[in-house]
Parts: sequence; structure tokens; C-alpha cells
Amino acid sequence: MRSVKMLDLYAQYLRLKDEIDAAMAAVLERTDFIGGQDVKDFEKELAAYHESAHAIACGNGTDAIQIALMAMDLPPGSEVITPGFSYAAIAEMCYLTGLKPVFCDVDPHTYLINVEDAEKRITSNTGVLAPVHLFGQNAPMDSILALAQKHNLYVLEDNAQAIGSVYTFADGKKAKSGSMGHVSTTSFFPSKNLGCYGDGGAIVTNDENLAKRCKMIANHGQSVKYHHEVIGMNSRLDTLQAAILRVKLRKLDGFASERQTAAAYYDRELGSIPQIQIPARAENSTHVFHQYCMVLETPEMRSGLQEYLKNNGIPSMIYYPLPLYKQAAYRQDINLPVTEHLCDRIMALPMGTDMDNEQLEYIISTIKHYFSTQA
Ligand SMILES: Cc1ncc(COP(=O)(O)O)c(C=O)c1O
Repeated sequence: MRSVKMLDLYAQYLRLKDEIDAAMAAVLERTDFIGGQDVKDFEKELAAYHESAHAIACGNGTDAIQIALMAMDLPPGSEVITPGFSYAAIAEMCYLTGLKPVFCDVDPHTYLINVEDAEKRITSNTGVLAPVHLFGQNAPMDSILALAQKHNLYVLEDNAQAIGSVYTFADGKKAKSGSMGHVSTTSFFPSKNLGCYGDGGAIVTNDENLAKRCKMIANHGQSVKYHHEVIGMNSRLDTLQAAILRVKLRKLDGFASERQTAAAYYDRELGSIPQIQIPARAENSTHVFHQYCMVLETPEMRSGLQEYLKNNGIPSMIYYPLPLYKQAAYRQDINLPVTEHLCDRIMALPMGTDMDNEQLEYIISTIKHYFSTQA
């Protein structure tokens, strides 16, 4: 059996090797390393994939959030409502741009933003609703967009984990994750569903003005060289990464179905273990399984299982061990019960393209064996 990895990027590379190597070789021959043809083409292809008007490539997913927040030009201290159970990037970029993250709770089964709880936290200072399409499925966008409209708020979708997933609105219309809010941001960190071989990110929007500002901000606040109209930064996707991403974007939907096959296998086998809560599917969204995260009955059970898996050569991860408001850098004196419950019990199993049945069977039988010894 191939050894089990949290994500086997090498196996995926071997499958794409001819196309990736050729794409990289073409960049090396052209030497258009910064702002090259592949960056321009990738931006067009990424916008088209989202059926959105604009995609602006940048240095990483965290920069993308910073650029999007700067582009909104909100009054200092404006509040950004975002889940307390999430990756740190939004909270961090709020503070860096002079805004205030206001954390709300999440759903215990889908782990996605609890819109009712978000609504309770709206004040006259709120400027943005920032749902995170966590682990690969869309936040409930019907209610988020309605709430934003009612209170005249921006919607920023953090789409770093769900690129390719599809949301079906209550009226039956479908939309890709990252194409529904005023602006969305994504990451091409290597382990992401659309990952490059270094750092990368992008902003997607239909808003002409936001697109123009994001493009300027990502490029030192200039649209004409050496004429700096606004305070900006230097955040670029390099051409080698864009060339790799162009190859992988064409395969993205196929990658998602491979992940879904592995997830279905886990569901089938783990769903009957009483101590495990398998990840629920959000009502109106497909799930592209950036991560397969299950919830254990108790924190002790999670640490016991994690140790047992590790001793049997199976990696696992905890996304995320601490609520954002309990992090030293962003501490706030609040308590979000579902966020805390999940932080203590959630655990991600190996997931990705190129997982074979033998590996899946091994993971499942090891988990089952662990629980058989616990009775
Ligand atoms: C939800 C979420 N947002 C933002 C980011 C930041 O992306 P990057 O690492 O490319 O800066 C990540 C990456 O881990 C993420 O998972």
C-alpha cells in the first residue's frame, strides 16, 4: 500500500507531470516571470470559471482578503462579522486594515456561519458580512445576501476552501462559490483544491469599481506606472504559478469528484459508528471536500483516536483547535458555544485526489479497530 498522507501532492503531480512540466518550461523559455502571459490568461479563465466579470490574481489568500477590505474603503473601526470557528486570515486582516472582526457562531453539523447569530451582532458600525465557505461547501448565501441587502453591508466570501462548489439559490438558480457576494477571495496554497506550487491567491468580483481598486491596490496603488493614486501593496501571482494553475483549473471539477468519492466512502463506513458525527451536507450546496472533518463525542476520544492513528501511520489534523477570539492576537471576551464544542472535538482525516481504495480501507479499518477496543 502507498503510505497514507494527509494530502498526496506528489501522486497528483505525477499524473499531471507532462502538462505541468511543459507549462513551466514555456515560462522558463519566455522568461516573463512577473505579470506574464499566463497570469493574464489565468485571470480571464478564473473569471470565466466563476461566470464573474473580474478575477485579480495576487500573492496569496491572505493578501486577497487585505486587498478586498482595503478596496471597500470603509470608515476606520468598521465591523466585519465573520465566524469564530475558522482560519485566522480574515480576523488578522481586519486588524491590519483598521477594522474590527466581530465573531459569530456556526452550525454544529455543517460548521458554516450561523446567520441568525450573525444578525444579532449587526450594529450601526457593521460594514461587512464575511462568511467562510469552510472545508468545501457554501455558507447559506440566500440568507446572507438578504441580510446584507437589508442592512446595506458588503458581502466578502472567503472562498479559499471551496473553489468549485456550487450553490443553488432558493429560486433554483445556481452559482459557483465565490461568485455571489460583492467580492470573494481565494488561496492557491499548495494544499488547496486548486493549489499551485508556492503561494498564490485571487479576488473575484462583478463590481467594476471594486475590481479596479483591487487591481490598483495589489500593484502599489498604481494603474499607471509610477503614478500612485492610493496606498497599495505589492502582491503578485508569479507567472510560473499561473502556468501551473491554468493546467489545474481545467481539472478542478474532476479533482472535486475524486474528493467526493473518498468522502462518500468515509461517510458510508463511519456513519454507523455512534461516537462519530460525520460532516453534514449544507442544504443548498455541493461539497468539494477541501477537508473531511468529523466530530468525536468527547475531546478525550479525539486525542485517543488521533494518537492511535498516528501510531498506525495515519496522519490527521485538527482544524481548528482554538476559537479565533481565544487566540492571543485577537482575544475577545465572548463565548460561542458551538465554536468551542467543535474546537474541542473536530478532526480531519486524510483527503485529496489520488486516494485509492486500499488506503481508504486501511484508514477505516484502523478507526473501527480503535473503537472496538474502547467498548
Ligand atoms: C479559509 C481561509 N482563508 C484564507 C486563507 C489564507 O490563504 P493563504 O495561506 O494563501 O494566505 C486560508 C489558507 O489557509 C484559508 O483556509
